[in-house]
Amino acid sequence: MTRLLHLSDLHFGAVEDRLLAPVLALARDLAPDAVVISGDLTQRARPDQFAAARAFVAQLPAPVLVVPGNHDMPLYNLALRLLAPFRRYSRAFGPELEPQLALPGAVIQGVNTADPLVWKAGRMRNTSRRRLARSFAEAASESWRIAVLHHAPVPASDGTPADMARPADALAALAAAGTDIVLSGHTHMPHSGFAETAAGTLFLQVGTAISTRRKTGANDFSLIELHPGRVTRRSWLALPGQGFAEGPAEHFRKETGEWQTDGAVPVPAAPPAP
Ligand SMILES: [Fe+2]
Repeated sequence: MTRLLHLSDLHFGAVEDRLLAPVLALARDLAPDAVVISGDLTQRARPDQFAAARAFVAQLPAPVLVVPGNHDMPLYNLALRLLAPFRRYSRAFGPELEPQLALPGAVIQGVNTADPLVWKAGRMRNTSRRRLARSFAEAASESWRIAVLHHAPVPASDGTPADMARPADALAALAAAGTDIVLSGHTHMPHSGFAETAAGTLFLQVGTAISTRRKTGANDFSLIELHPGRVTRRSWLALPGQGFAEGPAEHFRKETGEWQTDGAVPVPAAPPAP
């Protein structure tokens, strides 16, 4: 079994300080094979916020795969936003905006969906699509193919439309690349599921792990357990003023190329012919 700790939307600069030590302690106790952070490490992409985010990430169990979010580009410094939107991010987390990580049984490919030309929506660049397809084509057949994006091309859990340009195209590109699982953030609302048009791609979204910018009334993060043919997501939730407590687990199986949730009522078998 390979286990991934999935955190998102840390928003250093708007952090619930009391949650920092508990998240780090749980991360150490859970001892995942890797940690994935799906963007928005900072609130306003300021150097001091990146320094705090970097110090936090350095305390997580290695390896850590990070991608940028829309909050990781300067908002008010337009020259920097347009000419070098990821300069500050790269100083903290390195020049690779779309890192890859290979683990036993899984290949994880980062996708940078942050777009400096718009306010907060994302997009999936053609270069990213090609890179994703190449990365997954080269992976061993039995490996889970996992893409990490800040923005997901599916509606949020409250029905808000995907905050991404041409979401149907992006969804099709993920499916065409053979993506089994997408790990994402952005909405600050945890979510899981798959689109009818792409039942081979499972979307696992978390809210904000440690920020005050909650949309659901709770902070949360997940541990994803990868088995051959099936995946379990365990989630931890912290209500305001409380520590993290483990919530219900979700179980998913992938059979004949399509995801199913365990516990779903199976379609009744056809009655035997008379
Ligand atoms: Fe965010």
